[in-house]
Amino acid sequence: MANKNYSIVVGLDIGTALTKVVICKLGDGIVEVLGLSETKTEGISCGNITNLFKLEETISKAINAAEDSAGINIKSVNVAIFGNYVKIGKYQCTTKVTNYNGLITKNDVNKLYRDISNVTTQPNCKILNIVPVRYSTDSIQNVSDPEGMISSHLTGEYNIIYAQNSVLKQFTECLNNCDLDVENIVAIPDALSKVILSEKNKEIESCIIDMGAGATVLSVFKNNALQNIVSIPLGGNAITNDIKAAFGISFEQAERLKIKFGNVLLNEISQDETVNVSSVNGNDVSSIYKYDICQVIKARVQEILDLVKKKALKQKVSFTPNRCNVHLVGGCANIKNICNVVNETFSCHCFIARIKDEYENLELDHKFFQSLGTVFFKNVETESIKKEVSLNFSKSKINEGGLNKILSSLKRFFVD
Ligand SMILES: Nc1ncnc2c1ncn2[C@@H]1O[C@H](COP(=O)(O)OP(=O)(O)OP(=O)(O)O)[C@@H](O)[C@H]1O
Ligand SMILES: [Mg+2]
Repeated sequence: MANKNYSIVVGLDIGTALTKVVICKLGDGIVEVLGLSETKTEGISCGNITNLFKLEETISKAINAAEDSAGINIKSVNVAIFGNYVKIGKYQCTTKVTNYNGLITKNDVNKLYRDISNVTTQPNCKILNIVPVRYSTDSIQNVSDPEGMISSHLTGEYNIIYAQNSVLKQFTECLNNCDLDVENIVAIPDALSKVILSEKNKEIESCIIDMGAGATVLSVFKNNALQNIVSIPLGGNAITNDIKAAFGISFEQAERLKIKFGNVLLNEISQDETVNVSSVNGNDVSSIYKYDICQVIKARVQEILDLVKKKALKQKVSFTPNRCNVHLVGGCANIKNICNVVNETFSCHCFIARIKDEYENLELDHKFFQSLGTVFFKNVETESIKKEVSLNFSKSKINEGGLNKILSSLKRFFVD
C-alpha cells in the first residue's frame, strides 16, 4: 500500500555548465528518486549571474524536464549555492553553567548556541549552517557531548557557514520569477558531505574536491564537520579553452576532444595516434596528436590543483598528508586517471566520490550529488535555522519566535 507519510523534496544545482535537478520522495527512512534532469546552463559565468533572463529560462527548462520525468509538478526547491560565495568563520563562546552544582544540561548547550548565533561577524550576511565543532569544560578539552558533565563554565567552538545577503537575494528572486519558492539554500560543500561522507569517515580526515566547469572547490572536513573551503574560479572550461587555443578549434570541438580522449596519465597514450579537427571557420581540416591533447589537459589540471594547494596554504588550511581521503566530484572527475594527479599534488588518497552505502540503491551518477545533498540537508537538520539569524543580528532584535526556532534547530543538531 502506498505510504502517505512522505514528502516530495527537490534539489537544484545551478552549475556553470549544467543545471541539475533531483526530485525525491522522502519518508520513513526511505529515499526514492522520482525524477532527474540535466540542462545546459546559460546566464552564469564563474558562478556570477551574467544574464538573468537566460538563467531563468535555464531553470524553467531544467524544472520542466525534471517534472516530466517524475510526472509531478514542482512548487519549491532547495538550491545549492556555489562554493565561492560561501564563507566559514570559526567562533567560540563561553557560558556560566546555570545548575547550582555545575551539572551541564541541554539548557546550557542551547544558551551557547543562542549566544553564538548573535555573534557579530560580517555585515549583510546570512547563516546557512552552524556546525558545533567541540566543547570544553573547566578541566576537559575536546568534548563532543558535554551534557551530564560537571563544570563551572562551558565553552563551545563552532564553524559558521554564511553567504552574502545580496547573493542569496539574487538567486531567490530569480527562482521566484520562475514561480518557485525557495525552501532552503545550502552551501554545496555541506550538501556534498551529506551524500558522500559516511560515519566511517568521521575517524579520518576527509576532503571533497568538486571540479566543475567554472570552479574547483576544496572542502576540508574533520569529524564530518565542514572546516574550510578553498575555491578557485577555474575548472573544466579552462581546460577546454586551452585545447581550443592550442589547436585553433571551436570550444564545442575542444570540449568533445577533451571528453573523448582526455587522459592525464601520459604514458598510457600512444604518441602516434591522431585525430582530425576542423578550423574554427570550418574551411581547413588538420590532424592533431591525441598525446598533445592530453598534454594540454594534464598541464591545466595540474595548474588548477597547484593553485588550490597554494591557496589552501595561504588560508592556512591543513590536512594530514597520507592520512586524508580525497573524494573527487564534478564533471572533471571523469577525466581518466585524474585521481593520480590529485594524489601526487596533495599526497593524499584520492578516489572518485561514491554515494554513501545507505543510498547506493539510488544508483545516482555523481553529477547529481550536489542537488541530492540539498534534499538531505533539509531533511536532516537546519530547516529551522531558516537563515533568519543574520550574522550581525543584535541581541535586542531577538524575539521569542526566532529564539524558539534556534533552540529547536539546536536540538536537532544534537540528535544527529
Ligand atoms: N568525461 C569527461 N571528461 C572530461 N571532462 C568532463 C567529462 N565529463 C564532463 N566533463 C567536464 O565537466 C564540466 C562540467 O562539470 P559539472 O557539471 O560538475 O560543472 P558545473 O556544476 O556546471 O560547474 P561549476 O560547479 O563549476 O559551477 C565541464 O567542463 C565538462 O567538460
Ligand atoms: Mg558544480
